[in-house]
Amino acid sequence: MVIGGDRGARQFAGDHRPLTMDTSQLRSAFRSRFGSSPDLLVRAPGRVNLLGEHVDYNSGPVLPAAIDRAVYLAGSATAANHVHLYAPDIDAEVTFSLDSLETRQDLMGNPLPNWAHYPAGVAWVIQQSGKQVAGLRALYTSDVPIGAGLSSSAAVEMAFAVTWQEIGAWSADRMTLARLCQEAENHYVGVSSGLMDQFASAYGVLDHALLFDTRSLEWEAVPLPSETVLVVADSGVRRSLTSSAYNERRAACEKAVDVLRQDLPGIQSLRDVNSTDFYRLRHKLPAEVRLRAEHVITEIERVFSAVAALHSGDQVTFGELMFAGHASLRDLYQVSTPELDALVEIAGGIPGCIGARLTGAGFGGCTINLIEQDIAEDFIQSLQQGYLQRTGKETQAYLCQASQGAGTI
Ligand code: GLA
Repeated sequence: MVIGGDRGARQFAGDHRPLTMDTSQLRSAFRSRFGSSPDLLVRAPGRVNLLGEHVDYNSGPVLPAAIDRAVYLAGSATAANHVHLYAPDIDAEVTFSLDSLETRQDLMGNPLPNWAHYPAGVAWVIQQSGKQVAGLRALYTSDVPIGAGLSSSAAVEMAFAVTWQEIGAWSADRMTLARLCQEAENHYVGVSSGLMDQFASAYGVLDHALLFDTRSLEWEAVPLPSETVLVVADSGVRRSLTSSAYNERRAACEKAVDVLRQDLPGIQSLRDVNSTDFYRLRHKLPAEVRLRAEHVITEIERVFSAVAALHSGDQVTFGELMFAGHASLRDLYQVSTPELDALVEIAGGIPGCIGARLTGAGFGGCTINLIEQDIAEDFIQSLQQGYLQRTGKETQAYLCQASQGAGTI
């Protein structure tokens, strides 16, 4: 069963708009599974990132936007100290105890399936922080494509964090929830990710990007250029962040800081290194580390330039910075793929495309395209045709709207 019906099919059928969740369907799916009505419904969105890729774990600024594709959860508190989950999208179910989360096993002693690590990890970090995690029955479904760089896992984590906060009746601000979810990802799932994805899912603002300083944790909503839309194009190539490539990139950045600190003693992270100092000192870095650091340092500068361009209504500069960000991820950080490069190149040749780049960690997944509103449908068609001709593969394209962050519905 997939709640919301023919979602997969409609993406190819010329209807590129996201589906809205029918909450009565969600309630009735919960009722038919668990025999009672849910206490609450929660929505937590995925995200795109417009600029500032691989800088959140270098204390830099990022520019994501929550999108109108999300995880939808129906849940009820239970007296037993168990969590009983049902995921209709994959028709899978699991029950685990809240008393032995660290074993990563279900009630029968079998290893928890991977998909259950995200909710279990969130329960575990909330417990560690001394807050109450109530027994729970939950059914959840998602229209964030999995493994596509749109933060489907952060959306699941945020949905459960909001749920446990609501049914536990404890208070915590959204930043605390986002940080708990990041800890779940770092210490339970095992990916050393930064805070950007959980932040975006928690703080999304309708029709706005979010300039988030991952060091000070300050943020502001920045309006997206008027008369533009966001199109996500899926290369169809899937990635897994738990593969070592992401953690290796992070280690290279730390190595760069260690070496550069000999000449720049005050630095804590690559955020503290400006490009002038970097170009003066880069010969001291091992070749690969040098490439990684150059991406991060120039990407941080691109984010600040991009926000200035948005504030002054300069769409052309903003778009150029997106293309430059992609080239840097391709050549310096080396997290692109031939398919993502093809999508960006083809997009760049279509009139009305303001900017395009890969979004998220890379190694596959999606591109994000900033497009003039009037040509959006033509753009999607030309991109799909061009991609098919170039690679022999189909791309699913989604028209996305920047959306509000996680909460009860
Ligand atoms: C993943 C991580 C984020 C961030 C991006 C790259 O989405 O979860 O923390 O590092 O990759 O910008």
